[in-house]
Amino acid sequence: MNENVKRINADWWDARYRDGTTPWDRGTVAPEIIEFAREHPGKGAWAIDIGCGTGTHGRELARNGYRVAAIDLSLVAIQKARDAARREGLPWVGVQGSVTHLDLFRVKLAAALDVGCFHGLDGEDREAYAAALDRRLAVGGYYLLYAAHPRPAGEEDGPPGVEPDAIMALFSARFHLLERQPGFHGQRGSDWWIWRKEE
Ligand SMILES: C[S@@+](CC[C@H](N)C(=O)[O-])C[C@H]1O[C@@H](n2cnc3c(N)ncnc32)[C@H](O)[C@@H]1O
Repeated sequence: MNENVKRINADWWDARYRDGTTPWDRGTVAPEIIEFAREHPGKGAWAIDIGCGTGTHGRELARNGYRVAAIDLSLVAIQKARDAARREGLPWVGVQGSVTHLDLFRVKLAAALDVGCFHGLDGEDREAYAAALDRRLAVGGYYLLYAAHPRPAGEEDGPPGVEPDAIMALFSARFHLLERQPGFHGQRGSDWWIWRKEE
């Protein structure tokens, strides 16, 4: 199986979460999310953690007043995230499923978070994800996205990544860009994007 095919396979993700080959899962919340949650406390509104993994980042939103809904292909990851949220007594629900079905969540979202999931999707799935996110995000809602740039030729590991131009084309038609912070994902570039849905 090549790297891109593995990534749409729930068993492949489950195995990684079971044996701990999850280098992204460091247990520390991204500073961008800490800052966002402090500036925009949830006050009981819903947020979604898209491709939540073990839920580290989404729990920070729950600590700051959001009710968090989470989705991930890996049931093992969802179970770990659920256990961690229960230990802290946080308002958190998770489902195992694909982020191409965000319409599963029938609530209007005040915030959406994606740390490292979107950059693993192919073109068709990106479209389905963006369209569903647009339907579910409330006017005034925020979308925080961390995505790596494309994997350099010859490199086999890591997410396929996505061109910033493709992110711009897909989301600027739907949301207003508030902030883009460039950074690094190993040897390649990455960005934190913060978008807002306007009238
Ligand atoms: C790099 S991990 C990031 C996990 C988490 N956001 C974090 O930062 O710790 C990517 C996650 O996306 C999930 N994932 C990948 N493709 C998915 C899809 N189509 N639908 C739902 N989850 C997916 C994987 O199971 C994995 O947990």
